[in-house]
Amino acid sequence: MKNIPFKQIVDKFGTPLYVYHGEHIEKQYAKLKEAFKEIDLRIHYAMKANENIEILKIIKNLGGGIDAVSTNEVDRAFGVGFKPEDIVFTPSCASVSEIIYALDKKVNVHIGAIEYFPLLGNKLKGKKIGLRINPGVSIGGNQKIATSHSDSKFGIPVIFLEKIKKYQKEYGFVVNSLHVHAGSNISNVEDLKNSIDNFFKYTTIFDNLEYLDVGSGLKIKYKEDDKEIDLESYAAHIKSKLKEYKLNLKIKIEPGKFLVGNSGYLVTTVNIIKQGYKKTFAGLNSGFNHLIRPMYYEAYHEIVNISNPGGKLKKYDIVGQLCEEDTFAYNRKINELRIGDIVIIKSAGAYAASMSMDYNLRAKPKEILFKNGKLYLM
Ligand code: LLP
Repeated sequence: MKNIPFKQIVDKFGTPLYVYHGEHIEKQYAKLKEAFKEIDLRIHYAMKANENIEILKIIKNLGGGIDAVSTNEVDRAFGVGFKPEDIVFTPSCASVSEIIYALDKKVNVHIGAIEYFPLLGNKLKGKKIGLRINPGVSIGGNQKIATSHSDSKFGIPVIFLEKIKKYQKEYGFVVNSLHVHAGSNISNVEDLKNSIDNFFKYTTIFDNLEYLDVGSGLKIKYKEDDKEIDLESYAAHIKSKLKEYKLNLKIKIEPGKFLVGNSGYLVTTVNIIKQGYKKTFAGLNSGFNHLIRPMYYEAYHEIVNISNPGGKLKKYDIVGQLCEEDTFAYNRKINELRIGDIVIIKSAGAYAASMSMDYNLRAKPKEILFKNGKLYLM
């Protein structure tokens, strides 16, 4: 954060604003590559985290691929120059026509419900198909972002896998990959390893697998004393499972947050300091229309007053300007806030701009990329 010229950026572009640090994305990508260096790994950036074209270009230049969840995302990836083989398509409850579109474009489709097979029928002939499975095991994390437990809408329950084997013959396709995504922001690497153990059990059902896609869930630091997930130990576990099952397969991984989460900052201005009955509210020119994570997931984001770094620490409820209870942080201690101060909300690179909206007819913030000492309006 200290390397980014926020004051200069605000003078030029005003607030609210998303600012992304390009080198951070490159650093995270390199970390992942290094940790998995003994595995035939392919990184597919989950573009739902942040679909900005400049960010996709960074991923492309690094040699990564894309995980897309809608045909619009697939088309955007094509627009940036990704090839069909660089793209995995893992939608949730998408229409049959979206799946046919992706199959026709020859991207790697992961089917997430057995019910699609009869509906796709002869469209499947000669195709290689991936399956997103749901092992039905809860492995912790926030319920709103846990996706492989038995009550989750995601993935094919494993009890249906034998039937899909029969469908292969009936419709003339081949299952060439299995996919699992246990959830997001999984803090304990043991949980991820357990998910992998469960997942590998089902690799013995299909004979023509070419790759396994282990989704993501890679935690990042939202607080100073948070720990990032232990990548080395996770990679070693995957390697040992490949050995145990005697599989010589490519591994695909689909990080979103890990690559871009901590590259981003939501830069805001204090509109008003307001005294309530007991609380002091700092009203920012933002709200859940720009960053919904604190309100929807009770997520913690660090908040910094860059205009008054030496100011006395005081407690505030830091809120937005929507006609809603849009509280970024309750009882947060922060250097004294004054009207006009610039306040930065950290870890806003993933699921901030991509989940933003223009509720109350408040415009979405501009996005600025800071890379190699230069600023780019994205
Ligand atoms: N692959 C699949 C199939 C996914 O569904 C997701 C995220 C990812 C990969 C990327 O996961 P990540 O590396 O970003 O954890 N909006 C929530 C997170 C929702 C995640 C949805 N799927 C949040 O802000 O925490």
